[in-house]
Amino acid sequence: MSERTLVLVKPDGVKRGLVGEVISRIERKGLTLAALELRTVERSVAEEHYAEHKEKPFFGELLEFITSGPVVALAVDGPRAIAAFRQLAGGTDPVEKATPGTLRGDFALETQFNLVHGSDSPESAERELKLWFPEL
Ligand code: TYD
Ligand code: MG
Repeated sequence: MSERTLVLVKPDGVKRGLVGEVISRIERKGLTLAALELRTVERSVAEEHYAEHKEKPFFGELLEFITSGPVVALAVDGPRAIAAFRQLAGGTDPVEKATPGTLRGDFALETQFNLVHGSDSPESAERELKLWFPEL
């Protein structure tokens, strides 16, 4: 059974020219692209996207960062696509949690600038895909 997940290459990844690297790893894993768009995130979309973190101390900086430049948003399909992309991404903290071989483990140093987002559950994926790709 196929799933769909929302992936973002965050502003740090776009600025650093790592979009191709992220897409390449998604494709090599065997996942497929259903949608892909470069766009600047409106603050209201960012707030809704990260609504679960509203009360966290890092929420303000997270919004600043995610709206600081264009992101690449992707809808990604495949069997267990949600968990499969989280595996490719690696843990949230790119040094303490992400292991080498993952996107964050290979290309990031700080939790705040950890390169990619991936939906963390079927419920999150459904909510986030509606927000980013309402037309899908
Ligand atoms: P979270 O949903 O916990 O991580 P993930 O992206 O792996 O699903 O957090 C969302 C983002 O918030 C995370 O990618 C980076 C940022 N963040 C911080 O800046 N500081 C923190 O302490 C945490 C937990 C997250
Ligand atoms: Mg998350």
